Amino acid sequence: MAGLFISLEGIDGSGKSTQGRRLAEALRARGHAVTLTREPGGSPGAEEIRRLVLEGATDRWSAETEILLFTAARRDHLEKTILPALSRGEVVISDRFADSTRIFQGITRGDLTGIVDRLHALVIGREPDLTLLYDLAPETGLARATARAGSEMRFEEMGLAFQARAREGFLALAARHPGRFRRIEADASPDAVAAASLAAVLPHLG
Ligand code: TYD
Repeated sequence: MAGLFISLEGIDGSGKSTQGRRLAEALRARGHAVTLTREPGGSPGAEEIRRLVLEGATDRWSAETEILLFTAARRDHLEKTILPALSRGEVVISDRFADSTRIFQGITRGDLTGIVDRLHALVIGREPDLTLLYDLAPETGLARATARAGSEMRFEEMGLAFQARAREGFLALAARHPGRFRRIEADASPDAVAAASLAAVLPHLG
């Protein structure tokens, strides 16, 4: 059994975490075994790295160091959580995956796509079967993300221009990989977004 690997992407405050939970529930109700997971994190080791990268001052790490930390977390997540679930034939829904590094580290603070792509090829080498891109205006996303302010605010604190570059980057990436990406209008009602998400996934489940 091959399983199905789905990633959820989008700027901060796009609602993908809520939608991930709803999608997992909807698929379980249809009888599918689902592993819902997230990055950075998703395995005990990667959750430890999560605290290092999401908390503290915005200038705590350079974009280059972040690439190494996020990729190290991803490798552990892939080994310990994603690949085992896929080999059990499950649907894996990961709240963020490698596209987040391509965007947040690769393009928002200068062009580091070469490093991101080479490291990905070297130690990850796996893409999701399907990526749902939750797309909305960066102003809306940042307002939502700031409203639930907690300790994991490093990226939100990078500001509106940063989120705007990230949104453009995600849309450009989706345009380059139309077979893998589905753009979801994330400004619609939560029910409408959940319905659009399920509709995008069902064709992949035979
Ligand atoms: P996430 O927990 O998805 O935050 P939210 O629920 O607010 O969308 O992601 C946390 C932050 O980590 C987010 O600001 C983006 C950042 N991030 C990267 O910069 N690179 C990465 O590779 C990943 C996985 C996340």
